[in-house]
Amino acid sequence: MLAQCRNYCQKLAIFTLALLFAFRLQAQDTPTDSGATAAPDGGAAAASAKPDEAIYNKGKALWEGNCTTCHALSDEVVVGPGMYGILGRRDKAWLKPWIKNSQAVIASGDAYAVALYNKYNQTVMTSFAFNDEELDALIDYIAYESEVAMKQKDAPVADAGGATPGQVANTGASSGYFNLLLGILFFVLVLILAVLLLMISILSRFLNSKEDLAEEDKEVVNQRINLGSLFTSRPVLGGVALIFLLVILKGGWDSLVDVGVQQGYAPTQPIAFSHKLHAGEYQIDCGYCHTGVYKGKSAVIPSANICMNCHNQVKIGSPEIQKIYKAIENNRPIEWVRVHNLPDLAYFNHAQHTNVAGLACENCHGKIEEMEVVQQRAPLTMGWCINCHRQTVVEHAKDNAYYDRLLEYHGKMRGNEPMTVEQIGGLECSKCHY
Ligand code: HEC
Ligand code: HEC
Ligand code: HEC
Ligand code: HEC
Ligand code: HEC
Ligand code: HEC
Repeated sequence: MLAQCRNYCQKLAIFTLALLFAFRLQAQDTPTDSGATAAPDGGAAAASAKPDEAIYNKGKALWEGNCTTCHALSDEVVVGPGMYGILGRRDKAWLKPWIKNSQAVIASGDAYAVALYNKYNQTVMTSFAFNDEELDALIDYIAYESEVAMKQKDAPVADAGGATPGQVANTGASSGYFNLLLGILFFVLVLILAVLLLMISILSRFLNSKEDLAEEDKEVVNQRINLGSLFTSRPVLGGVALIFLLVILKGGWDSLVDVGVQQGYAPTQPIAFSHKLHAGEYQIDCGYCHTGVYKGKSAVIPSANICMNCHNQVKIGSPEIQKIYKAIENNRPIEWVRVHNLPDLAYFNHAQHTNVAGLACENCHGKIEEMEVVQQRAPLTMGWCINCHRQTVVEHAKDNAYYDRLLEYHGKMRGNEPMTVEQIGGLECSKCHY
């Protein structure tokens, strides 16, 4: 009886070992894990060494959740400057207060900050309520990835998928979660293995000390572990099949999570209307056409009448402008293809963000005034909304009695910690869901 028990323990132990081995293989497959064994960074090489995995993932999430609408990792300018070489230009001691509140750095008269601000046409960078640890992770991530991005950019390889940098953003959070789960499972397996080994050794010793053991039982007890049996053993093969299934399931899950995420979507419109021309070159205010954007829930797509304010005189002969005329004559609206579209279950209000919070359009839409064709820059997922609410400081409603009171109470309760949207209820389900 006991001998059999020991035998089972042994089989189980082999099975667990096989599982552990399979996990190791799977972990090596995931690119985010490949750096786990990277040597710890030392001094000058700090900028290019890959940060610790946990730090890397944290930095990645922060970067993708908050910065990609305005910054590229390479040297390309999006709204703000590209991040390549940032640690060469500025040190961490400068970067941290800048990311927390760039306006304060500018106001302090820092020459570099003022020059940069003017160079970028006084575009205000959003403030972020990150703590020191988050800032370190973020900056380490940027320092490392910006070099990778530059290397990729310099190598003239055609980008097979044509993926925009943002398109991978969404998988970042979920695969971080998955990796955590894997880590926990791994740990549990190691624990089980340890317990099994302990049981085997106790049982062996106990059985060996018994004199009246049957001969065949003794044989079983002292049997050596046969490695060859590993490949024919059913539990081992079953385990491998199980892992295989899990990997496939994860792939399926990842693609399911991306269903409905339309980042990068830029449909061709019925009229070749250019924001670059109208909002960029001619500097027509966004609110002139999107009449609801500071006042209401919806930004509103302009009707043909608004176009006519100008195009009853401008470029009448152009075939594109003639399409506007045709629409009016036929009394049919221009059939613009909708780019941004939240599902019906979510409530989003423009005025709350543009007017009350004072956010610039580019926080969520990128630099529309430089686009010939409008493209959806942000993922528009719930995680994206929530991330910004966790991290954005409510700071624009100055001289408003309601906010002044709120800020006063906040200050009393939390000291000088900045007040984020989360703390005024921006994570409550009912605020965003009907
Ligand atoms: C709304 C757009 C916007 C967002 C979002 C944004 N930035 Fe910026 N950032 C800018 C602009 C514009 C500048 C140039 C200076 C200016 O005009 O204030 C800048 C400048 C910088 C600089 C200085 C660059 C240099 O070359 O010296 C750093 C570093 C930086 N941003 C980091 C970040 C990080 C990190 C995030 C995300 C946590 C972020 N930014 C989010 C717009 C943005
Ligand atoms: C002259 C009128 C006009 C001005 C000025 C203008 N827009 Fe537009 N906008 C349009 C029209 C027409 C469309 C629909 C066609 C298209 O998507 O290009 C549109 C579409 C958009 C969309 C995509 C809407 C969707 O379907 O999801 C966004 C975002 C947007 N505009 C933002 C801006 C921002 C930001 C500015 C200011 C920098 C601006 N617009 C200035 C006319 C204008
Ligand atoms: C405030 C004035 C103004 C408004 C409003 C306006 N436009 Fe324009 N639009 C212009 C100017 C100026 C040009 C450039 C004309 C030129 O190149 O000489 C232009 C050019 C264009 C062109 C390019 C024509 C060509 O063949 O080069 C298109 C298409 C166009 N507009 C569509 C629209 C549409 C659609 C709307 C309404 C959503 C609109 N515009 C609203 C001023 C305006
Ligand atoms: C906080 C993020 C955020 C900011 C800031 C923002 N938008 Fe939007 N915008 C969105 C979202 C989310 C949608 C999709 C709304 C929906 O589908 O209900 C959207 C949709 C739009 C649309 C499509 C029509 C509509 O209302 O559904 C236009 C046009 C637009 N935005 C223009 C602007 C302009 C112009 C500004 C700046 C004055 C601006 N947005 C600022 C997030 C933002
Ligand atoms: C760029 C950052 C940013 C993004 C992205 C963003 N928000 Fe906000 N949101 C804010 C800020 C800042 C406020 C605070 C406004 C104020 O001062 O009341 C706010 C406030 C709100 C409020 C009111 C909360 C309250 O308690 O009064 C709602 C509802 C809301 N946002 C919904 C959304 C939804 C839905 C999305 C995603 C589609 C979204 N937001 C994306 C920055 C953001
Ligand atoms: C800041 C705004 C915001 C808050 C707060 C918020 N949600 Fe959402 N939620 C959204 C948006 C936007 C979507 C649509 C996302 C998309 O289309 O991918 C969404 C989608 C969902 C979905 C559908 C999931 C899917 O993939 O279609 C569920 C369920 C949901 N939210 C539940 C909740 C619950 C429960 C809470 C409270 C704990 C909550 N939400 C809080 C903005 C919010």
